[in-house]
Amino acid sequence: MTVTNDIKYVGVNDHAIDLFEGQYDVPNGMAYNSYVIMDEKIAVMDTVDKNFTHEWLDNLANALNGRKPDYLVVQHMEPDHSANIVNFAKNYPDATIVSSSKAFTMMKNFFGQEFEDRRIEVKEGDTLSLGKHTLNFVAAPMVHWPEVIMTYDSCDKVLFSADGFGKFGALDVEEDWACEARRYYFGIVGKYGAQVQAVLKKAAGLDIQIICPLHGPVLSENLGYYLNLYNIWSSYGVESDGIVIAYTSVYGHTKKAVELLADKLKANGCPKVAVTDLARDDMAEAVEDAFRYGKIVLATTTYNAEIFPFMREFINHLVERGFKNKTVGLIENGSWAPLAAKTMKSMLEGCKNLTFTDTTVKILSALNDESKAQIDALADELCMDYKAQRDETANKNDLTALFKIGYGLYVVTSNDGKRDNGLIVNTISQVTSSPNRVAVCINKDNYSHHVIKQTGIMNVNCLSVEAPFSVFECFGFRSGRNVDKFENEKDNLLRSDNGLVFLSKYINAFMSLKVEQYVDLDTHGMFICTVTEARVLSDKETMTYTYYQANVKPKPETEGKKGYVCKVCGYVYEGDELPEDFVCPLCKHGAADFEPIS
Ligand code: FEO
Repeated sequence: MTVTNDIKYVGVNDHAIDLFEGQYDVPNGMAYNSYVIMDEKIAVMDTVDKNFTHEWLDNLANALNGRKPDYLVVQHMEPDHSANIVNFAKNYPDATIVSSSKAFTMMKNFFGQEFEDRRIEVKEGDTLSLGKHTLNFVAAPMVHWPEVIMTYDSCDKVLFSADGFGKFGALDVEEDWACEARRYYFGIVGKYGAQVQAVLKKAAGLDIQIICPLHGPVLSENLGYYLNLYNIWSSYGVESDGIVIAYTSVYGHTKKAVELLADKLKANGCPKVAVTDLARDDMAEAVEDAFRYGKIVLATTTYNAEIFPFMREFINHLVERGFKNKTVGLIENGSWAPLAAKTMKSMLEGCKNLTFTDTTVKILSALNDESKAQIDALADELCMDYKAQRDETANKNDLTALFKIGYGLYVVTSNDGKRDNGLIVNTISQVTSSPNRVAVCINKDNYSHHVIKQTGIMNVNCLSVEAPFSVFECFGFRSGRNVDKFENEKDNLLRSDNGLVFLSKYINAFMSLKVEQYVDLDTHGMFICTVTEARVLSDKETMTYTYYQANVKPKPETEGKKGYVCKVCGYVYEGDELPEDFVCPLCKHGAADFEPIS
């Protein structure tokens, strides 16, 4: 096979193999690729598996057409590519072996020799001229062994990519590239996403027209497609919309739950539900799917106070490959002490950026009304986005969307001529940059609104994530008309040029604002202001409303209580009915800001 005028394919197909690398099922066999670059000097790129010595040497001799090779470039020492280095060296005693330092050490370990008298050791950035072709060596450690180098031929613009861009399957079988390339990638290279990313960055600087991997077809068209998939895979991104359900089932009850969930997910608009029985289906295919989709449900039985062995093996595969950036739902089954969900969650503990669903399905031996309801809830949770994307299923009047607007939290300080005042505000944003103008919205019920409307100045103090709950209690839950919020700090107050207080701690910046325009918004007033002074006090992150809710606001003590809890400050009202006109004694928010204790 001809790759370019000067580059010939001399690899072999293996249909006798049972398991690649001793574990991967390869129903369509395997290809071990090798290439020859014909120039004034001749370079052979890698050898092949030990079972194909003569076929490969014949292919090579045919391509050489009577000439002798000058170099054997060894990019990777795994035996599927290196097994014939010694045979090559014997057949072509004048040829030089070109490889990385680590690869020569491995040659010593594999073959008892490292070709001291006939070798060139190369590293990142080294080149080897063959005549009009120049080989540029690119270090690719851990893609997928530490000694790996890739080689770029700048004449024909070919990247010899070692295992990168390889796939399962012999070259004489027609099949989809992505399916078997993905299974190969996540099975074999998946752990080394960061290293693949590093190589892709180097590749981005090269003009590549053809990719010649050590397995799978030569890629010469639409390279952007392959590069994009490699980028997604190695950055642990989501390649396809859909949900994977990986399960084990002993007597069929967990399987029944999985089938029910799969039906509900489809009914909820999930575009693809990939179900895999870990005891019976190909484990590498299941691993590939787990990385391909953004959401996964793990369903298994409690077994020996643990989980079923195939699920344990599956989770181990995920963890060792750096599983991350996924939404995970759990279904557990147990006849007397279900422990599977806890075990699965703890196994995944070290994985980064996993979001576990609020719903975990607990099956006690067989499905019942309660566990069926949990499956409904899990399906709803997992399909929230799919439902909202489709006209037929979307709630188009879901005003909780407004809660998704990102807010910072600020203390706005002012002075009524007698004393300093401050309140917590989240509705502040920069509205123009030339000039810098900032809009501040304040509820008319707040004393600060009244003061600022009269004085026309304020300071906006940007709270940082260091601010404790006491800051919110001080400035948020009481009125400056009745209390002096700076009473404890009277002697230490800091002031900006406009004479107003700025906070001495828990802020990363403040701005002094002068009101230029006022917009009456019924319940609120919007002050549109110019910036008269601005100082940055730290590099700490700004406190957002989300951060406050998750990390600062104390968890309400509702354990064992019946009644309602204030969503703003956590105050608990105990009683069956919350009076409509109830006002929180802590933060002064009304009944609308309370929710029943669940
Ligand atoms: Fe194809 Fe890593 O050997």
